[in-house]
Amino acid sequence: MTELLSVANIKKSFAVAGTRKRVRAVNDVSFTIAPGETLGLVGESGSGKSTVGRCIMGLTEIDEGQIVIDGDLSTGRKDGGRQARAKSQIVFQEPGESLNPRLSIFRCIEEPLLPVNRDRQLRAARVRAIAEEVGLSDELLRASPGDLSAGLLQRVAIARAMVTNPKLLVLDEPTSALDPSARAEIISLLNRLQAEHKTAYLFISHDLNTIRFISDRVAVMYLGQIVEQGDAANLFSTPRHPYTSGLLSAVLLPNPQFVQPAPIRLEGEIPSPIDLPQGCFLASRCPLADDGCRQKPVAMEMPERRHEVRCIHHQKVADMYLNEANSDVYAEFQNVSEQILSVGLPERASARQTV
Ligand SMILES: Nc1ncnc2c1ncn2[C@@H]1O[C@H](COP(=O)(O)OP(=O)(O)O)[C@@H](O)[C@H]1O
Ligand code: SF4
Ligand SMILES: [Mg+2]
Repeated sequence: MTELLSVANIKKSFAVAGTRKRVRAVNDVSFTIAPGETLGLVGESGSGKSTVGRCIMGLTEIDEGQIVIDGDLSTGRKDGGRQARAKSQIVFQEPGESLNPRLSIFRCIEEPLLPVNRDRQLRAARVRAIAEEVGLSDELLRASPGDLSAGLLQRVAIARAMVTNPKLLVLDEPTSALDPSARAEIISLLNRLQAEHKTAYLFISHDLNTIRFISDRVAVMYLGQIVEQGDAANLFSTPRHPYTSGLLSAVLLPNPQFVQPAPIRLEGEIPSPIDLPQGCFLASRCPLADDGCRQKPVAMEMPERRHEVRCIHHQKVADMYLNEANSDVYAEFQNVSEQILSVGLPERASARQTV
């Protein structure tokens, strides 16, 4: 399948004020997203997820690598890549920050249309259509951002992002600031919009439950690198990277009968992104680390179809899950996600079928 988004070997570092040192935020990241697909990007705070999203949107300039959106090169520079970026939009965690408090909700949603559509009536019709799709009444269109709850504001931000019919939405922690019921509504809305418009999503979150629920594929990030990537079901049922396993082990699965098969605990210090080790970045926290892990950079391998991992002992991790009967973390995870998000799977299932 032709990819909609291709991110190839991108790197990004930031200067540390007053020194010659640099924060290495993104260290050679590559992934693709197909049309209408959702890739979940998960990792702890500071792992570089937002920087990747900002690089794709051209909000941050990349140092190296290449980003192509729907056949157009996004150079990452403000003066170029406009065509590529016209096909993508971003939604942030705090919708209030991207909405001008002095504008009506109608004008907030209309803003991205101004440069592309000069006909006021056509613009108004488009704003009303997308507002209706995301569940915003005419009355709300006359309100100001300050009058709306966080959940409604996120609907406005999504309408604003979708108003230009983008092929790709970058969603940076769009549900992390919401209470559980607003979160469930937004997830359900995103699934519905994707089924209808075949929009591809890069869904960034530190919350594994949400990521598991919404993603077709998942990429796990640690210290600016993708350490594991694969189909959501496969990656969560048989993780191959100790970091993924550690993240899973830290998720609360309240069923007393359920025992996590590989209780990998990540202990020890996270290295500074200013001074990264020469070998595996996880070695200081990984219970499986040995001298071989610390000697040289660990390359990405593909031990099975559509499943990549950056760990020399990945088979040991997979075996912990494969050897354990009755240990379907994915199924258990699914139960919990559905309870937490209080949304059923049928809507998601239909979204997948139409992709
Ligand atoms: N504009 C910036 N200037 C300096 N450092 C930055 C900047 N943006 C991000 N960083 C650093 O880059 C790393 C990755 O940050 P970020 O992409 O925000 O991670 P995440 O979204 O996963 O929490 C962090 O160490 C962060 O402090
Ligand atoms: S390469 Fe070694 S230190 Fe790194 S994750 Fe794998 S086992 Fe752990
Ligand atoms: Mg972030």
